[in-house]
Amino acid sequence: MQLAKTDTAHRQAEIGYVPARTWWGHGYATEATQALMGFGFDQLGLREVSAGCDPANVASARVLTKIGMRPAGYRHNHLQIRGQWRDRLLFAATSTG
Ligand SMILES: CC(C)(COP(=O)(O)OP(=O)(O)OC[C@H]1O[C@@H](n2cnc3c(N)ncnc32)[C@H](O)[C@@H]1OP(=O)(O)O)[C@@H](O)C(=O)NCCC(=O)NCCS
Repeated sequence: MQLAKTDTAHRQAEIGYVPARTWWGHGYATEATQALMGFGFDQLGLREVSAGCDPANVASARVLTKIGMRPAGYRHNHLQIRGQWRDRLLFAATSTG
């Protein structure tokens, strides 16, 4: 799991995660992404935290929705994964501070 700054001037960062299969279905992805997003807002002073998932990955979209992110767009053929260009469903949350 990572939080990477994507735009320092505009205080934006992106969360990425791929938990090991053994740990799926225990709420860990939700807990970890929520903690990382809170750290970004509270400790790093970020204004926007974003994340993305494959449109077919309903569980991942659910995780991002559960932590308070909102749909932020759809990118066609955005990432090349194992030799195939894949669409990306985008989510983002903005700091209230
Ligand atoms: C997607 C993934 C991150 C979820 O991790 P996780 O630790 O199992 O997630 P959580 O347990 O925190 O929550 C999963 C949520 O999705 C829901 N869910 C799981 N499978 C689902 C499905 N097929 N359809 C709808 N909802 C589903 C769960 O019910 C849960 O929601 P709930 O708490 O409202 O019941 C994990 O399955 C994964 O890593 N998958 C493959 C790799 C990947 O896609 N990584 C993310 C790249 S963006």
